[in-house]
Amino acid sequence: MDNRPIGLFDSGVGGLTVLRVLQRQLPQESVIYYGDLARLPYGSKTPAEIIAINDDILAYLSGRGVKLIIVACNTSSAIALEHSKNKTAVPLIGVIGPGANTAFAVTKNKKIGVLATEATVKLRVYSKILTSLNPSLEVFEQACPKFVPLIERGAAASPELQAAVEEYLAPLLRQGVDTLIYGCTHYPLIEKAIRAYAGNDLEYVDPAVGTVALAKEILERENLLAENHAQCEFVASVIQGGQYVRVDGRELLLRGASA
Ligand code: DGL
Repeated sequence: MDNRPIGLFDSGVGGLTVLRVLQRQLPQESVIYYGDLARLPYGSKTPAEIIAINDDILAYLSGRGVKLIIVACNTSSAIALEHSKNKTAVPLIGVIGPGANTAFAVTKNKKIGVLATEATVKLRVYSKILTSLNPSLEVFEQACPKFVPLIERGAAASPELQAAVEEYLAPLLRQGVDTLIYGCTHYPLIEKAIRAYAGNDLEYVDPAVGTVALAKEILERENLLAENHAQCEFVASVIQGGQYVRVDGRELLLRGASA
């Protein structure tokens, strides 16, 4: 048994979609949630910038004594996970492998759509993993740069969001995909708008589910499960007086997620 917290991070409120699955599946686990609001969005940054950010947050969370780190961000998972694995002794998992495995298991017509940030789509990492599982899969990746700024602004029900949903979903639907991966942890927060446009016949894959199942497997195997000790701490970054600072993020993050 091990009551140390799990570290979980994202550029903003997106990782809260992973946290909510974690709290359902592993309610006894304590968590430090890091929302990197000062450096949002990650999706338009270069790989070098994303790797540097990742290293910085991993060092912070490792220093806080976490027992496992979940990179609750597709962009960081795609770009920095492999690079960072050698840099910390703490077990580290990302969201992309679990998301790809779930999509592979549920698609029937072998046509899978991926909604993701520009940085994630550029790497084609979902396509690579999925076609390594089955070369006859067809994967269509769609960059959605307008989604994260609108979600973080609390504009999930705005006409701008509706227009962006149509712009990004229409090409995927024209390809006849039967499965859609939320390839950015922010996107389950606009699931209502996405389903309203694309309908309920598609299989919607939230990689958070497979990611938390993997976390559970590791904690069980390594004998790291906690016993009834759950606490959740929210840390956010902000720019104050031109400086990057970490603050108590409860208000900032939870307000953003419910807007
Ligand atoms: N939620 C993140 C992801 O899964 C990051 C989005 C962003 O900051 O652009 O990719």
